[in-house]
Amino acid sequence: MADLKKHDTPMMEDLKSGPFPSFVDDLETRGKGGVQCCYDLLGQMELSYEHKETHWKHGGIVGVFGYGGGVIGRYSDVAEEFPSIAHFHTLRVNQPASKFYNSKFLRKLCDMWDHRGSGVTNFHGSTGDMILIGTTTDQLEPTFYDLTHQFDMDLGGSGSNLRTPACCMGKARCEYSCLDTQAICYDLTMTYQDELHRPAFPYKFKFKVSGCPNDCVAAIARSCCSIIGTWRDNIRIDQKAVKAYMGGELKPNAGAHSDRDWGPFDIQKEVIDLCPSGCMVMDGKELKIDDRECVRCMHCINTMPSALRPGVDCGATILNGAKAPILEGAQMSTLIIPFIKMEYPYDEFKEFVDLMWDFWMEEGKNRERLG
Ligand code: HEM
Ligand code: HEM
Ligand code: SF4
Ligand code: SF4
Repeated sequence: MADLKKHDTPMMEDLKSGPFPSFVDDLETRGKGGVQCCYDLLGQMELSYEHKETHWKHGGIVGVFGYGGGVIGRYSDVAEEFPSIAHFHTLRVNQPASKFYNSKFLRKLCDMWDHRGSGVTNFHGSTGDMILIGTTTDQLEPTFYDLTHQFDMDLGGSGSNLRTPACCMGKARCEYSCLDTQAICYDLTMTYQDELHRPAFPYKFKFKVSGCPNDCVAAIARSCCSIIGTWRDNIRIDQKAVKAYMGGELKPNAGAHSDRDWGPFDIQKEVIDLCPSGCMVMDGKELKIDDRECVRCMHCINTMPSALRPGVDCGATILNGAKAPILEGAQMSTLIIPFIKMEYPYDEFKEFVDLMWDFWMEEGKNRERLG
C-alpha cells in the first residue's frame, strides 16, 4: 500500500473531536485498508472548507440505460489533485420493505461494491434507500447488472420522480400494526415502477406507510402521501390488565422511561387527563372510552399496551403534503381521507393516487411538491 496518498487535513481532524462517531474516522479506517478515494474525499472536503465552496460539479446527467433516476452524478472540479474521485457517482438502491436483510446478503452486496465502487455505503439514506457512494461512470452499468441479476434489487428514485416507498416494520414485528405495511410498500413499488425510474413529475414524490398512528417512519412529517394505519371500531380493553397497571403489577409504557423513579402509576394523571379528546373516564373500577370522540392518538395504548389495543376494523388514514422547503420551512401533512380500507389490490387507494397525481401534474409548478 505504499502508493496511498494521504493529504494534510487539519479541519477534517477537528471534526473527530466531537461527541459522536465521525465519518472522518470511518473514511480513514477504510483508507488505511488501501482505498485511495477515502483519502481523496477528505482532501477535497478540506479544500472545500478552506475555499468555502464545493468542489463537486453538482449534478450532471449520468445514469443507466432506460432509467432517469437512481444514479446521482458527481464529478470533481479538482480531479488533478484528487484523481481517484474524478467521477464519484452515487447509486440509490431500493431497500426491501422494512429493511429486512440477512447478513449473507449484506456481505455479498458489500463485496460487490468493494469490487465495483469505493466500498463506501450509507445504510440508509433518509428516504430509505441503501446508498452506494462513489463509483466511476464505466462501472454504473456493470453495478446495475449485478444488482438486478445477482441480488434481485432495483435502483431507487432520485430526481423528479417517485422516490423509493418506505414503511415501518408493521405486522412483521409490531402488534400495534393495523396494516400489512410491507405488502402495501411492495405493491406500490411494483405498481409504480415507471414513476419510480422515469422522472415525469414536477418534483420528487414520496409514499411512506406506517402501521399505526405512532408513525415510526415519520410519514406525516416527510412524505407527500402518508398512509397511516388506523381502526374505525373501538379500542379493545382488557379491564383485568387495566387493574394490574393501577395496582403496579404491570409497568406502564412497557417499562420505558424507567431511568427515573416517577412514583406509583396514576392512571388519572398519566392517561385519562392526557387524552387529547378527554374521552376516557374511570367508571367505578372500569375504564370507559367514548370511542366516537377518540382521535387515535395512541397515547393510552402506548402507556398501557397490555390493557389496550387498537380495534379490529382496520384501514388507513391518508394525508398529503409534508415537505421541508428551504424558503418556508418544514410543513406537516394535511388530512385528506380519514378512513379507507387497504386490502389487496388496493384499487380504491390507487384511484385516489391517479386523481392526486393528475391534479399535481396539472397544477404543480416546476419543483413544487404536492401540498
Ligand atoms: C433546517 C434545515 C433542514 C431541514 C429541515 C431539512 C429537512 C430534510 C428532509 C425532511 C429531508 C427528507 C427526508 C426524507 O426523504 O425522508 C431531507 C433530505 C435531504 N436533505 Fe435536508 N434539511 C435541512 C438542511 C439541509 C442542508 C443544509 C442540506 C445540504 C447542504 C440538506 C441536504 C439534504 C439531502 C442531500 C437530502 C436527501 C438525503 C437522502 O435522501 O439520503 N438538507 N432534508
Ligand atoms: C460526494 C458528495 C455528495 C454526495 C454523494 C451527495 C449526495 C446527494 C444526494 C443523493 C442527493 C439527492 C439527489 C436527489 O434526491 O435527486 C443530494 C442532493 C443535494 N445535495 Fe448533495 N451530495 C454530495 C455533495 C454535496 C455538496 C458538497 C453540497 C453542497 C455544498 C450538496 C448539496 C445538496 C443539495 C442542496 C441537495 C438537494 C437538491 C434538491 O433540491 O433535490 N451535496 N446530494
Ligand atoms: S408505526 Fe405503529 S405499527 Fe409501525 S412499527 Fe411503529 S408502532 Fe408499530
Ligand atoms: S387513543 Fe388518544 S384520543 Fe383515543 S382514547 Fe386513547 S388517549 Fe384518548
